[in-house]
Formats: sequence, structure tokens, C-alpha cells
Amino acid sequence: MSKNMVYLTRRERFNAAHRLFRPEWSDERNLHVFGKCSNPHWHGHNYVLFVTVKGTVNPQTGFLVNLKELSKVIKAHVIEPMDHKNLNLEVPFLTGKIISSETIAMAIWEQLETPIAEMGVTLYRIRLEETENNFVEYFGA
Ligand code: NI
Repeated sequence: MSKNMVYLTRRERFNAAHRLFRPEWSDERNLHVFGKCSNPHWHGHNYVLFVTVKGTVNPQTGFLVNLKELSKVIKAHVIEPMDHKNLNLEVPFLTGKIISSETIAMAIWEQLETPIAEMGVTLYRIRLEETENNFVEYFGA
């Protein structure tokens, strides 16, 4: 077996507001379950997104994928729709979901899987950092 699988990661950032809550629960119960992130008046995070793709290096370029193109795809499908938005109210692909880092990471995977495949590489991992201490990783399984 040839040893030629390479993993490449692009970092992007976005800022967005959210609230973790279930509408059928009282503010008190939401606060108990979701903590500060249930603030009824919203709050923001400076999210850091790492998108890792895998594939084999193009022998002509030495690249796995053109990083500018990868950045463009991530911006078009994820950053533009989410940056400076209220994630609960303004992002069509998050409608009806609980806006946790877990569900955001899984939704980002859904947004990127096909366009990244069209670039000739495979989406491997979505890592979403909500704070410097808390992050989620999703591998599409
Ligand atoms: Ni929060």
C-alpha cells in the first residue's frame, strides 16, 4: 500500500450570536440546563472553524488542494451565511436546531461535504472552537 494520504487544514473565523434554549421550557429551566448560553437576550462567540480535508498530492503542483479555492468554498457555504448573524434566527441551514457547537459542527459538515468532494478531496474533520477551552470535532459518522 502506498503511503500518500495527506491531511490539510484551513482555519476560518466567524462571530455570531446564539441562544441555547428550548422554547417550551421556562427561562429558569433553560438556565438550569444550558447555563449562561441560555440568556434570553442572546450573546456572541468568536468561533474558530478548522476544516480538514484528506487526499493525495497532485504530483504536478505538490498540493493536495488549492488553499485559496478551499477558503473560497468555506467562505461561500459557511462563513458568509453565519458571520455576524444570529444563528438561531438568520441561518437557513440551522433553522429548527438547538444551536450548540455540536449541531453547528454537524450542519457545517453538511454544507461542505459536497463542494469539497467536487474539489477532488474528501472532507475529513470539522473542528469548531466556541471558546479557547471548548471545542467540538465531527468526522461525519
Ligand atoms: Ni454560547
